[in-house]
Amino acid sequence: MKSNSLKKPVNSLPFSWYFENKFFQKEIDKIFNTEWIYVCHINSINNNNYRTLSINNKNIVVIKNKSQDISVFYNTCSHRGSQIFDQTEGKIKAPVIICPYHQWSYNINDGSLINTTSINLDKFDKTKYGLEKVNFHIWKGLIFINIKSKKKFNHQSIFQYYDKTIEQVDLENYAVGHVWKKNVQCNWKIYWENFSECLHCPNIHPELSDLVPLFKRRLTDIKDHPEWNILKLNNLDPQYQGGLKEGSQTWSYDGSAQGHTIESIQKEMESRGQIYISTWPSMFLGIYGDHIRIVRLIPKGPEEVELTAEWLFEKKTLNDDKYNKNNVVDFAILVMNQDASIAEINQKGLYNLKDNQGVLMPEEYIIRDFQKYIKSKIQ
Ligand code: FES
Ligand SMILES: [Fe+2]
Repeated sequence: MKSNSLKKPVNSLPFSWYFENKFFQKEIDKIFNTEWIYVCHINSINNNNYRTLSINNKNIVVIKNKSQDISVFYNTCSHRGSQIFDQTEGKIKAPVIICPYHQWSYNINDGSLINTTSINLDKFDKTKYGLEKVNFHIWKGLIFINIKSKKKFNHQSIFQYYDKTIEQVDLENYAVGHVWKKNVQCNWKIYWENFSECLHCPNIHPELSDLVPLFKRRLTDIKDHPEWNILKLNNLDPQYQGGLKEGSQTWSYDGSAQGHTIESIQKEMESRGQIYISTWPSMFLGIYGDHIRIVRLIPKGPEEVELTAEWLFEKKTLNDDKYNKNNVVDFAILVMNQDASIAEINQKGLYNLKDNQGVLMPEEYIIRDFQKYIKSKIQ
């Protein structure tokens, strides 16, 4: 059976691609402004609330009305261009959107202009001055936007790594139990590349490598090893079979379940421990035995990336005192902080040799795919 690993060393991207502004601007233009970008889970926004998202110099507002419908606009008034919402999230006070400058009012659902505050003008055509809409799509409760392109959302093509198991999870009905944000001082690609390999796992994530024994072998998948099928046949140990260490049920500090098991995929989770899907450039989603974690990556500049993690639980879990969601949340924060620290150290080393390229080893096949993707977009 074939293994995933690379058969020969592959040149990595030149180090300058991780800090020079000219590459960053191309990535914004050709990747972040044209791909489907994850905003948040639909239950992260309360009714009659908004959420803004900044991608470089574009600012978008996502609004949930009182009937839970979503609309997405550029955060710009059609009168003289004022920003309308100045916080990252908040409540919409009136049942309409009102610009803070001269108080033009807009329909919350379709952005059409309702009223100006000026003297009536016969030749003024109100229908031309609604808010500018942004292309968006909600897939299983996950809100995605596409800034430049009018193309249709297609989950078969937007996820580079997709696992059909997720189709058995009713993601849209999950509650958001916790949200965590962190700005990391590294290029956004550095964080993605770190996520895409486990060569660093034993020394950077000792606790996680104890929970997921395969990670002690510095592999993300049992199939990464050229002889994985022989090893699997001869070793019952989860280091070779995959899955969590014996007696563990989920990604938590002590491996104990901290929520109702996701029943529809229980068997799958027992043997695999975790399942990931990802869509470049903005999101990866992990499914664990009793919860789901979604991580969004948005660059804040060539050398800074903002991480936003959402933990989803079944509603009944959050209402059940016997579970302690912090056991799950804090464990993932520990792992993400470990990744953030080493990603910042990775970034610091790039400047000395800006024209050099690194090299990708057999286990780094996902990084090879990621870098191919980057090149195909910006060259
Ligand atoms: S800029 Fe918004 S009402 Fe004038
Ligand atoms: Fe890591």
